[in-house]
Amino acid sequence: MTYTWKIGYLRAILLVSCLLLGAMLTYNSLVVYPSFTRMLTLNTEEEAVRVASYLMTEVLGEADDLHDVSGIADRIQDARDQFRLWKIKIFSATGEIVYSTEAADIGTVNSSLIFTNELPAGHILSKVVRKDGKSTEGQVVPLDITETYVPILKEGTFLGAFEIYYDITQRKARQDQNLRKSTLVSAAIAVLFFGALIFILERTGKSIVERQIAEQKLIEYQKHLVESEKMASLGGLVAGVAHEINTPVGAAVTVASSLDERTRQCRELLLNNQIKRSDLQKYFETATSSAAVILSSLRQAAELIKSFKQVAVDQSCQEKRTFRIRECIEDVLLSLKPKFRQGAHQVEVICPEDLEINQYPGVMTQIFTNLVMNSLTHGFAQRDQGRIRFDVQTTDSLLRIRYEDDGVGMSAETLQRIFEPFFTTRRGQGGSGLGMHITYNLVSQTLGGTIACDSSPGQGAVFTLCVPLN
Ligand SMILES: Nc1ncnc2c1ncn2[C@@H]1O[C@H](COP(=O)(O)OP(=O)(O)OP(=O)(O)O)[C@@H](O)[C@H]1O
Ligand SMILES: [Mg+2]
Repeated sequence: MTYTWKIGYLRAILLVSCLLLGAMLTYNSLVVYPSFTRMLTLNTEEEAVRVASYLMTEVLGEADDLHDVSGIADRIQDARDQFRLWKIKIFSATGEIVYSTEAADIGTVNSSLIFTNELPAGHILSKVVRKDGKSTEGQVVPLDITETYVPILKEGTFLGAFEIYYDITQRKARQDQNLRKSTLVSAAIAVLFFGALIFILERTGKSIVERQIAEQKLIEYQKHLVESEKMASLGGLVAGVAHEINTPVGAAVTVASSLDERTRQCRELLLNNQIKRSDLQKYFETATSSAAVILSSLRQAAELIKSFKQVAVDQSCQEKRTFRIRECIEDVLLSLKPKFRQGAHQVEVICPEDLEINQYPGVMTQIFTNLVMNSLTHGFAQRDQGRIRFDVQTTDSLLRIRYEDDGVGMSAETLQRIFEPFFTTRRGQGGSGLGMHITYNLVSQTLGGTIACDSSPGQGAVFTLCVPLN
């Protein structure tokens, strides 16, 4: 049960099935059972009519007055035996019992309204009386019977009525037995069905819960993997920063310490009054060139630190709002216009004019800038006529951006390492190798999306971004 009850809709199915079973049993007792009894009544009523017409033609004959029927008592007894009746009564038009197979009844009067309303109008009346119940005349009956009143009409005149009693004990017992049997069979089928249903639900529920647990585990494992990847990339990043900054800082330190040494020597000469004009001139030359080297090295270091700061994406300082994606792309292209060679490269933007997303426009701008700058500096490095294409589409709740250029493309190694921090093929030529790493972080962390790259040498590069619309 434990598994089944965890799944809401399986529980609902079970509940509905229980209700259906309850409805079936109620239907049985309220509709099926009474309809059986009705059928029994109709059957005996038909037989009673047949007996009455027999009595009328064969026994009563031409009699117009029912008050003296003592002469036909034997024949009525015979009819009773022949039709296997429990009792026959004959009433006069006023409801007085003029004859009964039970002598004690004779002379009593049935004063109910049936003798003034229904019977004179030719209606037949039937009723089932259970054992120890009371008949229409108020007598307690010792067995299950149906009593049927059949009016005696001669040329439209109401002369009286027969009352024919059938002993239905056996028929009733057979009917009850049949009903019991069919209820038992349906109950057995229902129990079997329920058993099977619970079994199936149990198994389905179990497999669903097991799958949910497995999925949960997988998600946790993936989270763990992402975390450890993050740690590894952070470690790589720190090592990379140290390595990158070491070069300019090391150069500055070397130059600064040699300048320090030269300054000390110069000061020594000055104090001893040995300094010559040429010494001073040489020292100034050294100082100027050293300062230049130190300055450029420190600038390079500062630049690196600036890019390094961008790697750690700070979401809080970004503003999220609804904007048109096409306008964002066009703004980036406009701002990069000076970087394009005079009209040589072509840019195509496929994107609905009014397509809006609720994201960080600043982040989007930075991502597009990095992609276009890479196409210009790497893809189109030796090319005058490059093509760039933005293809923006929406699917469900995602924005899918396919960015491609037809530049030089990448080797398999570059493709594999493109998102690594400090990976660049333009080391010493202005490449820090942080552009794509920052882009990756922005897409996955700030926008909650994904970015993938596909490229091969000479085949250009394709970047596919999927970003939630909200
Ligand atoms: N569109 C492209 N076509 C060809 N190679 C590319 C393209 N985009 C990126 N690359 C390759 O991926 C490498 C990493 O790119 P990334 O933007 O991270 O660094 P970078 O451009 O070299 O330096 P920067 O930090 O200044 O952006 C590049 O050096 C280049 O080899
Ligand atoms: Mg770059």
